[in-house]
Amino acid sequence: MPEFNAKTLKEADALCERYAEKLHALLPLLHLVQRENGGWLPPGWDAYIAEYCETTLNHVRGVITFYNMYHTEPVGKYHLMVCTCVPCGLCGGDGVLEHLEQRLGLRPGQTSPDGLFSLEEVQCLAACDKAPLVQVNEEVYERVGPDQLDKLIDDARKKSA
Ligand code: FES
Repeated sequence: MPEFNAKTLKEADALCERYAEKLHALLPLLHLVQRENGGWLPPGWDAYIAEYCETTLNHVRGVITFYNMYHTEPVGKYHLMVCTCVPCGLCGGDGVLEHLEQRLGLRPGQTSPDGLFSLEEVQCLAACDKAPLVQVNEEVYERVGPDQLDKLIDDARKKSA
């Protein structure tokens, strides 16, 4: 089973001090694990976190699978999550997804061979009044259009060149 190194354990313990119980820090702890593992939760971390938080593996897995923001498979350095729920769909979300599919040559669920981008179709990102929405890693882009996305892609490619 994987485990925190000394530095990350210190960070995790500090996070938990902000809450009455370790379990209440579950979401930030999972973010911490993802950050330390290139944006995803490799096998075994769910069990380690369950033990660390003194809860059940099922509870941790339930949380991981409930939220879009946790990934149990490797994702690209830039993980693009496109909302296509009805409000975003009515405001162009489907077109945004189609544009990204063409521009990146990816279908939802795929990662580019260079590991730079992954594309995912997601359900409501909880800001429907600012539709359409795309989330890239931790950042949310509101009322997003093709030009803004093209710039984001170009900038990411330049940074990684
Ligand atoms: S439907 Fe897209 S953010 Fe809610």
